[in-house]
Amino acid sequence: MKRTRGKKGRVEGRTTPHKSLADIRQILGDAPRTRDMLIENLHKIQDHYHHISNRHILALSIDMSLPMAEVYETATFYHHFDVLKENETPPPSKTVRVCDSLTCEMFGAKTLLQQLESENIDDVRIQAVPCVGRCHAAPVAVVGTNPIETADTTKVKTAIDNNAFEDSEPDCISFVEYKKNGGYQLLVDCVEGKFERENIISLLEDSNLRGLGGAGFPTGRKWRILSEQPKPKMVAINIDEGEPGTFKDRVYLEQDPHRFIEGTLIAHWATDADKIYIYLRDEYAGCRKALEKELELLKQDPPCELPEIFLRRGAGAYICGEESAMIESIEGKRGMPRLRPPYVAQVGLFGHPTLEQNMESMHWIRDIISNGPEWFSNNGRHDRKGLRSFSVSGRVQKPGVHLAPAGITMQELVDEYCGGMLEGHDFYGYFPGGASGGILPASLANIPLDFDTLQPYGCFIGSAAIVVLSDKDSAKQMALNAMRFFEDESCGQCTPCRVGTAKAVKLMEKDDWDQALLEELSTAMVDASICGLGQAAPNPLRCAMKYFPEEFK
Ligand SMILES: Cc1cc2nc3c(=O)[nH]c(=O)nc-3n(C[C@H](O)[C@H](O)[C@H](O)COP(=O)(O)O)c2cc1C
Ligand code: SF4
Ligand code: FES
Repeated sequence: MKRTRGKKGRVEGRTTPHKSLADIRQILGDAPRTRDMLIENLHKIQDHYHHISNRHILALSIDMSLPMAEVYETATFYHHFDVLKENETPPPSKTVRVCDSLTCEMFGAKTLLQQLESENIDDVRIQAVPCVGRCHAAPVAVVGTNPIETADTTKVKTAIDNNAFEDSEPDCISFVEYKKNGGYQLLVDCVEGKFERENIISLLEDSNLRGLGGAGFPTGRKWRILSEQPKPKMVAINIDEGEPGTFKDRVYLEQDPHRFIEGTLIAHWATDADKIYIYLRDEYAGCRKALEKELELLKQDPPCELPEIFLRRGAGAYICGEESAMIESIEGKRGMPRLRPPYVAQVGLFGHPTLEQNMESMHWIRDIISNGPEWFSNNGRHDRKGLRSFSVSGRVQKPGVHLAPAGITMQELVDEYCGGMLEGHDFYGYFPGGASGGILPASLANIPLDFDTLQPYGCFIGSAAIVVLSDKDSAKQMALNAMRFFEDESCGQCTPCRVGTAKAVKLMEKDDWDQALLEELSTAMVDASICGLGQAAPNPLRCAMKYFPEEFK
């Protein structure tokens, strides 16, 4: 903006736009104006106007007493905020988002996008977006917030014609039902002293439960570390679920939200923490409605004294699933991962020690404590322990979330849980851990799938998102899809990741890959990126070169 000095030495162009400020104040009502509420408040403006203009940014910065640059840089970081430049025309008020990540590309997302664009539907914008967490029903389009599974042009247009722009609330086990079936009794027993904190932590250690968000850190050990930290302490629950191919958290959330809430409250008690923050990805609008309602019911009829519980809404940024980026985002900032040490267990949310856990990790707490640690650890195959929720998508008969023993092999999973391959498709390969976890060929379908078992092959299980490829698919093409995703989602903070992903995409778009250069680039990204996104980004590309050489002839 051009700045000129006025008569009284004030900066013109930055004077208070009274009308915009009044509008913003009306939209925000009595919502808190603290720094950490910036993203929540930006959502309110985006929801109201379907975009955020410069005058809103200025008005919000005045209303929240924040520098305009900070509001602007935060708003422009997140894909779900349409920030307009000066004199830019607002986008249409309705958006249809078409997922073009791995499984959806395999099931025709590109064609769907082209068809929808050629329809020129009035006042509707068509956007390609990364995985929306419904890969079992690819391709997926989201009309407003209404997800359309196995989408085609007719289904999308019908939703638009019927004004069906809102996601519906899932039919989950309600607070009353959950309580009726013994829910929250375990929490009450903990709080009332029937268990010692130490016993519960030891029991969790014995169960061999490992964090199910991707890194597989032992949950009991994490609770112990946190229990030894000074107060105040925070609990932060990660339901960002952005890894392409992953949808298990959504499925559990849609079925039984109180199970993870009770697990979280037990974690809060066991670590003697203070407040709880739940971070839910914006794509799960129906779950958000259900969670808001169920949390309210719980607060109205608390089984015991409850801590403050805050539900925070993501804004379309995969990197916010990384634990320190999620903390930055909850604090109302851009989701840029922090350098470690210090670890979030020491210096986390608002500078306090923080127990950060994936939602599914908390989903199992009640069963593990009630049934004993062996209930969980006695499961497992091929010398592995525990259960894993595999989000399976791709060329199988029965895609979906399959709860199976840790260490099951891919072949066993396809045969025993997925009903075999789709008619006319031969098993060719698989992503064992979403876009970041690499790609393995069918000839390596007998490796136990678990934390630690896939590293020797240049892969990892991560959030157990399995994408099954057939002879109709190309590992090379899928690796390019994954790299485009990382390029779009890199937070840009470090050069090897920001430049490396962009450069890799350019090289991979050519028919003839410069494999030596790509390998060099991969090494730089793995060695010099500061977070898991940049470190894992080369996995699919390296695997494509290593395991699918016939595609390069
Ligand atoms: C790029 C990136 C994205 C991640 N996304 C998620 C996510 O969406 N959900 C999640 O629970 N963990 C995610 N993680 C893992 C978290 O950093 C963290 O390990 C996890 O939330 C800890 O909880 P857990 O121990 O219960 O798994 C991600 C990690 C990276 C590097
Ligand atoms: S590795 Fe990539 S996503 Fe992670 S901090 Fe660096 S630039 Fe950001
Ligand atoms: S919903 Fe499209 S890949 Fe996940």
